[in-house]
Amino acid sequence: MQVVVCKNASEGAEIVTEEILSALSKKPELVLGLATGSTPIEVYERLICAHKEDGVDFSSVQTFNLDEYCELNADHPQSYRTFMREHLFGEINISEENIHFPPSEGPELAEKCLRHEEEIRQAGGIDIQLLGIGSNGHIGFNEPTSSLASRTRIKTLTEKTLRDNSRFYEDPSEQPQVASTLGIGTILDARRILLQAYGDKKAEAVKASVEGPISSFWPGSALQMHADVTFVLDESSAAHLEMIDYFRKSRTEGLRLQKDNTA
Ligand code: F6R
Repeated sequence: MQVVVCKNASEGAEIVTEEILSALSKKPELVLGLATGSTPIEVYERLICAHKEDGVDFSSVQTFNLDEYCELNADHPQSYRTFMREHLFGEINISEENIHFPPSEGPELAEKCLRHEEEIRQAGGIDIQLLGIGSNGHIGFNEPTSSLASRTRIKTLTEKTLRDNSRFYEDPSEQPQVASTLGIGTILDARRILLQAYGDKKAEAVKASVEGPISSFWPGSALQMHADVTFVLDESSAAHLEMIDYFRKSRTEGLRLQKDNTA
């Protein structure tokens, strides 16, 4: 596990965007796992900029979003499909058939969720998985006590998640209570994972995920079992980390080695 403590969220977004663009330049048919929410927005803005200003081509990229609400239709203003269209897909040259969301509508959802896992496999697996983290430690909508081996399925949202997201709903009765989400096991299958967390509201979840014991009570802690994961943080979200000086030092040393090797 790597932990990068940035001076602010913008520096974090820059690091994440650079890594995606570098991977895309080596593999045009990159498979990206994507998150919604406020955290990844600046990365999406930077990817749009790379497309519009530098001609970066997304036509062969495939995307798999982490989650989608079950009781909202696709064009509802709060659906994650709408979010992705507005914040990324509508502004880059990605093909509609290369965009995937976990099944969230209609009958036989459990079977459809299993077929979704097969679609990820057929795409060759996720190359880079972007994650945010809930203040309760959820990744995707894998709420506390989710099985660490879980696959794509329907989850009931916790009161904490509903409270965190209630600002998007004028009428509380409209807020969905269930969502489909890639499982923790599905997320751990990604080759590379980049988790961004910014602001003091995430500090407790970051501390538990990075330094706590692995526990389904803090789903982010499952990432300790992944061989190639980086937590990209700012000073506030990293504030509770006991090992913060070590993480700062290992970043400086890593950059120095990189410089020596390219000199
Ligand atoms: C969204 C998702 C969630 C969010 C998390 C943080 O697709 O998977 O796990 O990443 O709730 O949300 P923000 O970024 O709004 O703080």
